[in-house]
Amino acid sequence: MAATSLTTITIGSSASIGSKAIPLSRSKCFGVSFNSQNYLKSFSGLKAASSISCESEASFLGKESSAALRNSFAPKAGKQNLRHQYYLQPQASSSKVAILGAAGGIGQPLALLIKMSPLVSALHLYDIANVKGVAADLSHCNTPAQVLDFTGTSELANSLKGVDVVVIPAGVPRKPGMTRDDLFNINANIVKTLVEAVADNCPDAFIHIISNPVNSTVPIAVEVLRRKGVYDPKKVFGVTTLDVVRANTFVAQKKNLRLIDVDVPVVGGHAGITILPLLSRTKPSVSFTDEEVEELTVRIQNAGTEVVEAKAGAGSATLSMAYAAARFVESSLRALDGDTDVYECAYVQSELTELPFFASRVKIGKKGIEAVISSDLQGLTEYEEKALEALKPELKASIEKGVAFAQKQTVTA
Ligand SMILES: NC(=O)c1ccc[n+]([C@@H]2O[C@H](COP(=O)([O-])OP(=O)(O)OC[C@H]3O[C@@H](n4cnc5c(N)ncnc54)[C@H](O)[C@@H]3O)[C@@H](O)[C@H]2O)c1
Repeated sequence: MAATSLTTITIGSSASIGSKAIPLSRSKCFGVSFNSQNYLKSFSGLKAASSISCESEASFLGKESSAALRNSFAPKAGKQNLRHQYYLQPQASSSKVAILGAAGGIGQPLALLIKMSPLVSALHLYDIANVKGVAADLSHCNTPAQVLDFTGTSELANSLKGVDVVVIPAGVPRKPGMTRDDLFNINANIVKTLVEAVADNCPDAFIHIISNPVNSTVPIAVEVLRRKGVYDPKKVFGVTTLDVVRANTFVAQKKNLRLIDVDVPVVGGHAGITILPLLSRTKPSVSFTDEEVEELTVRIQNAGTEVVEAKAGAGSATLSMAYAAARFVESSLRALDGDTDVYECAYVQSELTELPFFASRVKIGKKGIEAVISSDLQGLTEYEEKALEALKPELKASIEKGVAFAQKQTVTA
């Protein structure tokens, strides 16, 4: 795998980072989300005099997203002969992104990855503590996004003014032996308070909810927005990208496929058996034995626990989560920038099943979700059909728990 994650950059002969000219022919290309051979003109993270050629088999985004990104920039460079060549204009758009919970295990690496995006003009970092240092540190990276820090509830409103995308990883992570639902009471209150502030200060923003249990925190957020009269179902997303990232990785390993080629839609919810990878929909088409389906499905569903146990008390998935969340942010920014070919899985208000919220692939556009993709649920295997029916009662209970929490708060208030 090490060989496939190596990236080669060739920039004429050199690029400058700070004041040093650094030969890049054997360097790694960090966070640049392109497969195959790509040419980037003046990528903002590296002050290159001429175009950068970047050969990579690793991708920040995955194949479909990379293709979409290529397409989104292709018109600016002309489409001829650009199958593997395109030009990325830094600051193609000027989106503002806020991270609430930015000093945490997920928040910090997520902030770094978003700081590297050429689509971000301002990055607002909010937390109840320790965010000043994170912002000072990040602000020294020579990428265009301006980094601003906001500490404590008195600065929450200002952190949200004029923001296009709000990402919420604030909360308490899972500890060994804890289920996602054990986190409920603490994180439910945090999400409620933060989303109230979003409703008051940037009601048109895309809202990405990472704080667990996502199956319940998304319905809580929706109730809060409804109560405030600003709910737009197209703009509230439970971030389930990590399930897709894990599914793609595990399937590629198991079937010895190129990582960049693999795409597995993951539907349902974001906890235990509610996570349903649709292995029969894997691209490229690949066959699995019944044992492989069972083993992969269970591994994808329990991958969070794998990390929690390996960290042995020091938190839950943070780096892979930050990577997955950054991919989802980048997709949203591309959609806001006018890319008409952006698809991601997310946990959203849905009519695909009888449940009011459900994770599936969605098409994202400038104004949020343009379509919920139903075709993935057609022609499921018997195993997937059974798993889908089995997850519904648990997901329903988690949704109802979230709604009941939010309604109880309203009555109390
Ligand atoms: N959606 C997913 O796939 C996924 C994956 C992993 C973790 N998570 C969840 O993400 C959350 C964060 O995990 P972490 O590992 O970064 O935890 P962490 O404890 O390292 O960081 C949480 C951060 O939130 C901050 N915070 C707490 N209350 C806040 C408030 N009221 N306002 C703003 N900030 C506040 C804390 O100060 C801290 O910096 C947890 O709920 C965890 O379960 C979700």
